[in-house]
Amino acid sequence: MKILIVGSGGREHALAWRLARSLRVSQMWVAGGNSGTAGLATNVAISPENVPEVVTLAREISADLVVVGPEQPLVEGLVDCLAEAGIPAFGPSRSAARIEASKSFARQVMRDAGVPGPEYRVFHEQSAAVDFLTKHASPVVIKADGLAAGKGVALCPGPEEAVLAVKGCMEDRIFGSAGDSVVVEEWLHGPEVSVFTFSDGENLSAPVAACDYKQVDDGDQGPNTGGMGSFAPPPFWDQVLADEITRTILRPTVERMAELGCPYRGILYAGIMLTDDGPRVLEFNCRFGDPETQVIMPLLESDPVDAMLASIEGNLSHTEVRWGQKPHVGVVLVSGGYPGAYETGKEISGLDSDCGRVGGRELETNSLVFHAGTANASDGDGTRVVTSGGRVLTVVGRGDTIEGARATAYRRVEAIGFENAKYRSDIGDLAVGSRGRI
Ligand code: AMP
Ligand code: GLY
Repeated sequence: MKILIVGSGGREHALAWRLARSLRVSQMWVAGGNSGTAGLATNVAISPENVPEVVTLAREISADLVVVGPEQPLVEGLVDCLAEAGIPAFGPSRSAARIEASKSFARQVMRDAGVPGPEYRVFHEQSAAVDFLTKHASPVVIKADGLAAGKGVALCPGPEEAVLAVKGCMEDRIFGSAGDSVVVEEWLHGPEVSVFTFSDGENLSAPVAACDYKQVDDGDQGPNTGGMGSFAPPPFWDQVLADEITRTILRPTVERMAELGCPYRGILYAGIMLTDDGPRVLEFNCRFGDPETQVIMPLLESDPVDAMLASIEGNLSHTEVRWGQKPHVGVVLVSGGYPGAYETGKEISGLDSDCGRVGGRELETNSLVFHAGTANASDGDGTRVVTSGGRVLTVVGRGDTIEGARATAYRRVEAIGFENAKYRSDIGDLAVGSRGRI
């Protein structure tokens, strides 16, 4: 089969790496891509967010399956446009992707379906929000309703901070139209886990779980980023918890989406907090997580194409999706300065040339290197790999324990370098943010 992957990050390299191991895949293209995906597939220099260009490319290569990585093209209806062109695409329709694109829509779905989450209120007027917040002294979380590239959430210990956050959204419009409405939520506490399930609109696969690290500095300090590391499976993840989350969160949500006439097909990603009162949903996303995908793709033992086609065709009840248990830890290397301003074009040393190809050095090193902001630069001395973005690589170690996987990941990280490279040194440390607790 010919596969087109849409996206340019570590998530998409990890998807390409896993798809390359499927006996069903003969050829792959990537819309966007990076130096890592170039070793496994043909990169095509178009924007993953340009829906008409992606559809044209899928037609030109006669793709048998399109796998969409990021949320933006899903929210803009890429899967609907591909379906109209008769091309099977893995990911939710535009109307189902609202579960990520609108936090108020997602909360309404959860309320209707009885899915546990924080208490919340939605406001369309700044004055009403301010009025509510000044009368309501407890800590709250303020969220811009729409897509804000992961930046639209403010944790507010008191009314002053909350009123400022609302002003930022609704008056200063720092997130543009995404902040036209805001959701005010109860501030919950507990360890967080990202849970992923394949859904065909009605049936669900076994879920898989991972933990990620969002803040830039050790000890969960500093500004939020697109992700500084991840591990899977979490030590507390067992069949009892997986069953509880499926029963109380994933299944009722998928059932409600079907009732609403927007059946959810694709990967459903639930960001969950394990509170003292049980699992509570912080958010739903309509895609795989990054950098979680880099540690869960190595766990997928069954065929990824089978799972994706079954999700599209409504066949998940006849398709086994099997996840392994071997611990994996992923450390993200970023450009110095990220998530603020940073330089690019720095040569990266210590990479293997195999890019995760079947038969590469993976088994020998027990590690994998997934690329994100990297590019091939050619000059008189041949081709070099250089940095081209803020998040540059995810280095994944595998082991018999999280500690072992962590040690392997950091050994490999130390062999890789570029000017001003930065990474957290506590990824996979279960004490950080009580990620090992339940
Ligand atoms: P979201 O984009 O909604 O997942 O929010 C980003 C991050 O904000 C989450 O990973 C949590 O760390 C935090 N967060 C979101 N909602 C809440 C909440 N209701 N209570 C506590 N923390 C939250
Ligand atoms: N790991 C967070 C995200 O993918 O949104």
